[in-house]
Amino acid sequence: MELVLEKVRNLKGNIYVPGDKSISHRSLILGSIAQGETRIYNFLSSLDCLRTLECMQALGTETELGKDNSVNIKGKGLCGLQEPKDILDVGNSGTTIRLLAGLLSGQDFYSVLNGDDSIRKRPMKRVVEPLRSMAADIWGRKDGHFAPLSIKGSKINPFQYTLPVASAQVKTALLLAGLYTKGETVIKELLPTRDHTERMLEIMQADIKISPPEIKLMGGKELRGTDIFIPGDISSAAYFIAAASALKGSQITIKQVGVNPTRSGIIGILNKMGAKIDTLNYQIKSNEPRADLKVEYSELKGIEIKKEKVPLLIDELPLLAVVATQAQGKTVVSGAKELRVKETDRIKAIVSELKKMGADIKEKEDGFIVEGPSKLKGAVCESYNDHRIVMSLAVAALLAEGKTVIRNSECIDISFPGFEKTLQNLINF
Ligand code: S3P
Repeated sequence: MELVLEKVRNLKGNIYVPGDKSISHRSLILGSIAQGETRIYNFLSSLDCLRTLECMQALGTETELGKDNSVNIKGKGLCGLQEPKDILDVGNSGTTIRLLAGLLSGQDFYSVLNGDDSIRKRPMKRVVEPLRSMAADIWGRKDGHFAPLSIKGSKINPFQYTLPVASAQVKTALLLAGLYTKGETVIKELLPTRDHTERMLEIMQADIKISPPEIKLMGGKELRGTDIFIPGDISSAAYFIAAASALKGSQITIKQVGVNPTRSGIIGILNKMGAKIDTLNYQIKSNEPRADLKVEYSELKGIEIKKEKVPLLIDELPLLAVVATQAQGKTVVSGAKELRVKETDRIKAIVSELKKMGADIKEKEDGFIVEGPSKLKGAVCESYNDHRIVMSLAVAALLAEGKTVIRNSECIDISFPGFEKTLQNLINF
């Protein structure tokens, strides 16, 4: 598929974006190992989350996905999962493979996790190593650096660990494993990362104490199934927030978006760049904050982003490069080496495609430098089979003179089926 877009005048209107991807994955996994029923509302039926759903089904969970994006799960309790008959295929989903590696380490059966070409290139030692310290019997290619991962479930031990990489996927894998230990697992974060797992464990009545930078979790206590209301995904909303901020005359409202502070770094950064984003109707539902985000065009200026802020907007950094091309002055992103090990090398991908569109952007080992503003021009771009690269380039296309073609754009369905339709609803030519 090709996504073809042209310059637009501005964006106007009110929209909803689909449910949060990170929370959707977690609700399936925790709902499956809780006791009793869990009903999920506004589940994200995207390719990545459907992989987690299929894996949980292969592990014996009974789930029912409704047309209204609700999911009903009959929880199996902590020890009710079954040995899968086949390899668990996570597709392109890093969250699925890393979270399940933790969950499966504490089971009493054997399982194998594999995924697509991109997954087999992504670093797994970051979960394998700490899980091995808990006495997990987990193997992978190159001594556990790469998938496929093979796990001979075993008795695992609680442990204390300081996360060397700021990764919510690793943190969550260890918390899931910690549920299967007899004792207290203590995880310390040097930089805060998304805390959806901790929040969900709380409402499922886990024995968890959250006192940043530390999380303490007692293993062995059964979780209670519950209703989970998932807010709109801030990472999906970000594309429209960015486009409206950069296109003169725009005014949009995105309703019911998750604004968890460990996820919504993009709002603070754009506001610092001069954007006008108002947070309205703030409320907390299922232990997660949500709000309507009203965005108006405003003149933007460049900004410097350093390591501490990176985990709070990691998935939005390619998009930020696009915004920076429209801002006055220099934008420098540092401490974001993690971008190189996402679905693709996102630094290389966004720098090379924005260059084709006429941006003044330079690659750094751990980020990029953009000199703005520049007049973008339409181009034929590659997707690198990375959903976030496609949607970031789609925003660039709305700002660029002429036509932009983004090749192999079907990977958008990894996180945002219906992206183009939602965008068309807002466009004024
Ligand atoms: C995610 C955490 C982040 C993020 C990914 C989803 C999660 O990855 O990039 O899209 O749901 O926990 P890392 O934890 O590897 O930084």
